[in-house]
Amino acid sequence: MTTRREWLRMTASTAGMLALAPKFAWAQDSKSALITRAIPSSGQRLPIIGLGSSATFAQVARSEDQQALKAVMSKMVELGGTVFDTAPSYGASEEVAGRIAQELGIAQKLFWATKLNVASRGGPADAVAARNQLENSFKRIGKPVIDLIQVHNMGDIKVQLPILREAKQGGRVKYIGITTTFENQYAEMIDTMRREKLDFIGTNYAIDDRFAEETILPLARDRGIGVLVYAPFGRTRLWNRVKGVEVPAWAKEFGASTWAQFFLKYVASHPAVTCITPATSRPANVIDNAGGGVGQLPDAETRKRMIALVNSLPGG
Ligand SMILES: NC(=O)c1ccc[n+]([C@@H]2O[C@H](COP(=O)([O-])OP(=O)(O)OC[C@H]3O[C@@H](n4cnc5c(N)ncnc54)[C@H](OP(=O)(O)O)[C@@H]3O)[C@@H](O)[C@H]2O)c1
Repeated sequence: MTTRREWLRMTASTAGMLALAPKFAWAQDSKSALITRAIPSSGQRLPIIGLGSSATFAQVARSEDQQALKAVMSKMVELGGTVFDTAPSYGASEEVAGRIAQELGIAQKLFWATKLNVASRGGPADAVAARNQLENSFKRIGKPVIDLIQVHNMGDIKVQLPILREAKQGGRVKYIGITTTFENQYAEMIDTMRREKLDFIGTNYAIDDRFAEETILPLARDRGIGVLVYAPFGRTRLWNRVKGVEVPAWAKEFGASTWAQFFLKYVASHPAVTCITPATSRPANVIDNAGGGVGQLPDAETRKRMIALVNSLPGG
């Protein structure tokens, strides 16, 4: 296996990679390792940066050439990442990632976070269809015990959460939870977090999208629920806002050389966050993003300064 240093030496020889150098600056310190956080319900520690698989990952998964995704997944593991967030509804992502992980021999090493949802928005879920979807995920992922399965987008919690609970009791799923990134489902998510015993939730949280800080993250801490953070870049939103803008020099004080690291370190510095799963289809961005989960994190004062900077950008 190529070490970080060897990899840097190999890639530093190409002009294109040199232009990307800030993305890799953190990896020059061979001691740098991803920060880990404990899952509240078990104490199992997870590296704070994982990988998501909707957005561009899903687009590439649909294409014929999936070599880039192989490189993305192996690079994540090489850098110490384990959490892979997917869903049966992300096009071919779950199936393609399952196959790649088996080819690479990393399927058992990964912490698979997939989802369950056969209900169309707001409608009822058919229990038989839900169980079939669950069985399909087991086939695709190829692990006898799936690490985490969450009810996707709050789809018919009454029918689907008990199916997950039963799978957990039967030892087939280690952790269960619920997800949403839709504003009109936050109230139901909060209510479910108060009522049900959950290991995890998954929700959107980014430096310019801080609704979760009001109730969801404090409640997760109170109730001992782990948090997977989705859309830490707002998919394309934050990238559009920083187009042509330099990362401030003071971001180096907490080890951020790129905007990705700036955005991820803001999210990672919230104590309720267990793991962030940015999606990417590019190995170079996997390295960049891992840099958002190593070394120092911003303190409370720095977090305010970061928000003020982002608020001053266009598109707010
Ligand atoms: N309800 C749910 O359960 C739910 C909802 C939303 C999201 N999620 C999960 O959360 C994951 C992340 O959210 P998301 O995919 O919506 O958006 P995101 O992670 O905020 O953004 C992904 C976008 O950022 C780009 N990107 C990634 N790293 C970059 C870097 N270092 N530099 C520049 N661009 C970079 C990617 O393009 P490149 O490919 O070019 O890098 C992609 O276009 C999803 O993939 C999914 O697994 C779950």
